[in-house]
Amino acid sequence: MEQDILNFRKNFKAYEKCTYLNHAAISPISELIINETNKFLNLRSMPPVDIIDEFFSRKDEFKSLIKNLINAESEKNIAFTTNTSEGLNIIANGMDFKRGDRIILFKGEFPANLYPFLKLEKKGVIIDWVEPDKNHIISINDIEKKITKKTKLLSISFVQFLTGFKAEIKQIGKLCNENNIIFVVDGIQGLGVNHIDVKESFIDVLSTGGHKWLMWKMGTGFTYFSSKILEKIYPSTLSWLSVKDSWNFSDIKLDLIESAEKFEYATPNAEGIFTSYVMLKEFLNFGINQINKRILKLNNILIKGLKDLKYEIISPLKDNYKSTIISFSCNDCDKIFNRLKQNNIHISLREGYLRVSPHFSNNEADINKLLSYL
Ligand SMILES: Cc1ncc(COP(=O)(O)O)c(C=O)c1O
Repeated sequence: MEQDILNFRKNFKAYEKCTYLNHAAISPISELIINETNKFLNLRSMPPVDIIDEFFSRKDEFKSLIKNLINAESEKNIAFTTNTSEGLNIIANGMDFKRGDRIILFKGEFPANLYPFLKLEKKGVIIDWVEPDKNHIISINDIEKKITKKTKLLSISFVQFLTGFKAEIKQIGKLCNENNIIFVVDGIQGLGVNHIDVKESFIDVLSTGGHKWLMWKMGTGFTYFSSKILEKIYPSTLSWLSVKDSWNFSDIKLDLIESAEKFEYATPNAEGIFTSYVMLKEFLNFGINQINKRILKLNNILIKGLKDLKYEIISPLKDNYKSTIISFSCNDCDKIFNRLKQNNIHISLREGYLRVSPHFSNNEADINKLLSYL
């Protein structure tokens, strides 16, 4: 495993040139993707130019890997989407919400998981807010207190972008299932580095972009829809690829595809899909649990170092809540952030906190280098 990780790390020029610990913002592009992009562009530049068959076969293989990643019932439950927001908008715009319906949202969420639903207030939908406690933990109890007979949907991030709090997805899913609530998860800060099982967790919609922890190209993501919700959502965006007989351009019939492909309405981000596939293949070969273990091991070194330096870690550190993100407060975060930047150490400054997000391609030397500059 160690040797395999070393070899994997060699695929990223960024790790040679800097100390990169900012995967919760964006991941570096690997040589694996660069090589696949060259392959894609070469194919597109030479006759027959149109590589639709190669693309469709790659797309099918990719969906089958995603199915394994999240334990979906079928590839038919997965649509390629360009970013997290697209999937969240599909559910917010595609269901018939009525005046008086209620939605549960969470304070401190990344805005992508709020605005698509806040827009529904114009229709008379009521938002019920859940506030994390002073330790940034969202308890099942606090969620339960907000549920009413009118609650139609709950949307939460798998992992909170700022605090790194990992939600108890399985328990929340159970609660939603028992109360007939549509369960929506923004997966971008957790997918690829944490185990998730959409069936076991009764998830109805799981949406993600791929450019963070999954290490895909920007503009390449996917959304999972449970079979139950899939048939209830009418796509708010329609075009030529939304229908069953899509290559018949003369017989116009609005007969929608039944699978999640109905949301892939027109020409896709073919390059992103074709090339990002190689990363998921690699991740699944390593195993998501192995990847998670490796990051948590690196983060334990980071946590100890931060505690020794007397920084206050704000990320919940209890096993159930621990993610791959570690954020901490400091007296002069701006100054420290700039000092790190000048020394080629990349982390994030978010809302007055420093956020560190190592991937499994990082090593102990990266963590120690960061600690030596704090
Ligand atoms: C929790 C969360 N959701 C969504 C996003 C991004 O949304 P999108 O993929 O739609 O750009 C981010 C960060 O950029 C995030 O941290």
